[in-house]
Amino acid sequence: MTTAPKPPAGATSPHLPAPASELIARRYSCRTYLERPIEERDRHRLTAFMDSRTVGPFGSWARFALIAAAPDDRQALRRLGTYGFIKGATGFIAGAVRRTPKDLEDYGYLLEEVILYATALGLGTCWLGGTFTRSAFVRRFGGLGRDETMPAVVSTGYPADDGAERIRQREEGDRRMPAAELFFDGRWGAPLEAADAGGRGEPRRDAGGRGEPRRDASAAGYARALEAVRMGPSATNKQPWRVVRGSTGGTTAAGTTAAGSTAADRSRAVDRSRAVAPDWHFYLRRTKGYGKGSLAFKALRIADLQRVDMGIALCHFELVAREAGLDGRWVVDDPGLAVPDGVEYTATWRAVD
Ligand SMILES: Cc1cc2nc3c(=O)[nH]c(=O)nc-3n(C[C@H](O)[C@H](O)[C@H](O)COP(=O)(O)O)c2cc1C
Repeated sequence: MTTAPKPPAGATSPHLPAPASELIARRYSCRTYLERPIEERDRHRLTAFMDSRTVGPFGSWARFALIAAAPDDRQALRRLGTYGFIKGATGFIAGAVRRTPKDLEDYGYLLEEVILYATALGLGTCWLGGTFTRSAFVRRFGGLGRDETMPAVVSTGYPADDGAERIRQREEGDRRMPAAELFFDGRWGAPLEAADAGGRGEPRRDAGGRGEPRRDASAAGYARALEAVRMGPSATNKQPWRVVRGSTGGTTAAGTTAAGSTAADRSRAVDRSRAVAPDWHFYLRRTKGYGKGSLAFKALRIADLQRVDMGIALCHFELVAREAGLDGRWVVDDPGLAVPDGVEYTATWRAVD
């Protein structure tokens, strides 16, 4: 098992100025901006926040900067493999991450935090995935180190539309897959029951209406965290994230202490069997013909954007779980579940009860 290195103090508590769940609900891909330049106060606050996002949950180093838009950016973006029509962006948030096995997930995680902060400031944003590493964006960013890449940038500025229609469509499910196809219980494909940890319901109260049973409260918290994953942005809205709730201990985990297992295996199984809090295993279900390995991505040398999508999903899950008072940490500890072809394990949120 690899435990994500402990980031410097403060790196996982971004101190967003509003509840993350509210910012996640408010964010949408804004593609039309007002001509008004970003006010100095907002630029300073955004830059200060970006400067604090330096280490991802898997330990990759990243840095970000706000760069001013240039007149021919719109054409340049097309050439770099981005899609959609970005109109009037006054700035771009560009970033670089040092190459590591989980660099793209870390980049997605950290830049999504920056996006949520920008959302709190009233700025619109849109992720733009392409082949930036040798682009004019890098020159305006001040260059890249030899071991750094720029997998995506984000357009920003004050929005010219309020995104209400998009947000409504997303919340009504027109632009998102149903939870039952994304979140599973114990094994791949078994939908997680809404009452257990899915759905959007409020926590149930006890008979006297006082307080709430702890299990119900945490189920409601995880339900909100999963909903935040579902509302997240993803490249061409492919929604490649899948989550399996792991066994909460007891018989299954104890059963792994079979003869022949090592002492480490046994002690891990005991740990698991004692655990009352669940593991949440995150997987990437690659979209056939899109992204890594596809002709278009190879020809244009576009980054593996579905791994960036995974980082965004981890960010949303953690922020909203923490907001609900649910503690945990990211570990890379593949549970070895049977999964379909084309599915890759990313990481596990190991709850701390
Ligand atoms: C890694 C990544 C790359 C993206 N690239 C682009 C892009 O090049 N052009 C664009 O217009 N939108 C891009 N998007 C935005 C998605 O299309 C958008 O998130 C998705 O359609 C869901 O819509 P929403 O963000 O409004 O909820 C990208 C999103 C992600 C996460």
